[in-house]
Amino acid sequence: MKKCKKCHGETGDGKGSGAKDLEIKPKAFTKDYLSNRSDGQLFWIIEKGSANTDMEAFGPGSETNISKDDTWKVVTFIKEKFGK
Ligand code: HEC
Repeated sequence: MKKCKKCHGETGDGKGSGAKDLEIKPKAFTKDYLSNRSDGQLFWIIEKGSANTDMEAFGPGSETNISKDDTWKVVTFIKEKFGK
């Protein structure tokens, strides 16, 4: 929540305070949207980031350095909180 809501918003709608000025905006994490995304896809983008967007890499070796275990927990969190 601390690291992500700036862009993704508290409710996952992609309208966090930091998202206003982004050229490529985060998409809203809705049930429909997340049902088209596999856990692996979400994992990958959190770990590696998305090229040419403001979605940076958060995985091992990055500044935030989220471990693989914790990244899976974040994926579960997103699916549980916004995907139902
Ligand atoms: C500086 C703004 C910013 C921050 C901070 C940020 N994101 Fe993102 N995120 C984005 C943008 C922009 C995209 C859309 C990238 C694209 O369209 O390729 C994105 C995409 C994603 C996606 C992919 C969704 C999809 O389309 O499949 C996931 C998952 C994600 N972010 C999770 C996180 C998590 C977890 C954090 C915190 C650890 C985080 N983001 C922090 C901007 C941000």
